[in-house]
Amino acid sequence: MSQPDSRRLVVLTGAGISAESGLKTFRDGDGLWENHRIEDVATPEAWARDPERVLRFYDERREQVRRARPNPAHQALARLERAGFAVRIITQNIDDLHERAGSSDVLHLHGEILKARSSVDPRLLYPLARGGIRPGDLCDKGSQLRPHVVWFGEAVPAYGPACDSVAEADLLLVVGTSLTVMPAAMLLDAAPVECPCLLVDPRASEVSPRWVTAFDELASRGVPRLVEQWLAAGRLL
Ligand code: APR
Repeated sequence: MSQPDSRRLVVLTGAGISAESGLKTFRDGDGLWENHRIEDVATPEAWARDPERVLRFYDERREQVRRARPNPAHQALARLERAGFAVRIITQNIDDLHERAGSSDVLHLHGEILKARSSVDPRLLYPLARGGIRPGDLCDKGSQLRPHVVWFGEAVPAYGPACDSVAEADLLLVVGTSLTVMPAAMLLDAAPVECPCLLVDPRASEVSPRWVTAFDELASRGVPRLVEQWLAAGRLL
């Protein structure tokens, strides 16, 4: 096959791309925020008030992630990268399904549930190969360990690099996000004016800005369909 397209595809994914792997989204019916109050499990105040409750919430989700498998949407993006296309994934998800599908250029905006971090220095990360974080666990520098997850009200250190990637994109593909959480939702504004933007989501027509091409499809159908088109043509269409 001739050298594939050298143009840069940037993919912004949300909970919807992992829904068909059995992981709950946040705002759909029976979503995570239907069954848990953000103030109780996903803020620095919740952590200070009741760390055990926060750890139970993430322990439960971590075991679900460990049981989950990448679905055809994750696999199609990895296949595109293996075919030599420039694919950078910016995900709001804290699961590792993109990596387990084989994608190697993945930027986690909101952290990674399979890692712990120092409560004092967010750069100190500790992979959680098995189990979770016990209340009072300390890192090797002596500070308390916490989930490597960006909580509501906290800074998003990866946002700057994510903006830079979107600003250089030749094509933007958005998959499975309600585009309701800042600053992730503002990433679309960082795209060059001439950069086309596609959105795959059963509610795409509802959530997408008018300049976005909406595909009202499940991720496991819409993403492989687009990827097969690009692979057959040898270029991003
Ligand atoms: N395929 C594609 N999209 C889907 C599917 C599917 N099978 N199932 C659901 N969706 C779509 C929904 O229509 C919705 O638009 O996925 C989106 C999920 O939206 P949210 O639940 O709001 O998840 P997300 O946008 O990723 O949330 C962003 O909010 O709470 C924070 O940190 C959390 O990263 C999360 C952020």
